[in-house]
Amino acid sequence: MLAACLFDLDGVLVDTAKHHYTAWKQLAEDKIGVGFTHEDNEALKGLSRAESLSYILSKTSRTFSESEKLAMMEEKNINYLSLVSQLTPNDLLPGALSLLKSMKEQGIKSALGSASKNAPLIIEKLGIVEFLDAVVDGNVVTLSKPNPAVFIKGAEILNVSPAHTVVFEDAVSGVAAAKAGGFYCVGIGEQEALPQADYVVSDLSFVTIEDLNKKFFN
Ligand code: BG6
Ligand code: MG
Repeated sequence: MLAACLFDLDGVLVDTAKHHYTAWKQLAEDKIGVGFTHEDNEALKGLSRAESLSYILSKTSRTFSESEKLAMMEEKNINYLSLVSQLTPNDLLPGALSLLKSMKEQGIKSALGSASKNAPLIIEKLGIVEFLDAVVDGNVVTLSKPNPAVFIKGAEILNVSPAHTVVFEDAVSGVAAAKAGGFYCVGIGEQEALPQADYVVSDLSFVTIEDLNKKFFN
């Protein structure tokens, strides 16, 4: 039987990718002098803030000191925070609230497994704190996906085994992390983009607890 679900945040519960895009693009173009496209933003899904900056800096031959890099990450995050400060429960992606509610009703545990250091603020804005039994984020685990640490830690806190737990992920690196940790994984997005997922849906409105039990725990 399904014991727990672990949710990635950005791209699974809420569409924050557009805000990361705006904030990174501004930094890339105005401060670093390189372009930043939607394809670049796709490549950054699931990566930590520092890894994202390294990706952008690999587009230039200019070099920057560690303190300059820290200042750039801070500047990007200040811009990002001003964008996500507008989030409300209406920004939850389709199906997210209803799945979280039915899990709570049926006694199935849930946790967040996100690379984001802003996760606590974002889940508060979305009004879903009460539906999450644990929050494992970039402040708790520093090993980035595809390392499975963020999900393994979540399963440990919930006291469930990966073999009875389903991870929801929209990033290639996140799906790889879930599979490396021995979890079932439902991809959120396009089938072709997430070949490692056990199956893929376009959003959580296509997922029920009954389906998960039928597919994985029959
Ligand atoms: C992940 C996003 O969830 O969090 C990445 O997919 C982002 O794009 C990462 O870089 C870190 O986010 P934050 O909020 O700590 O800068
Ligand atoms: Mg994501």
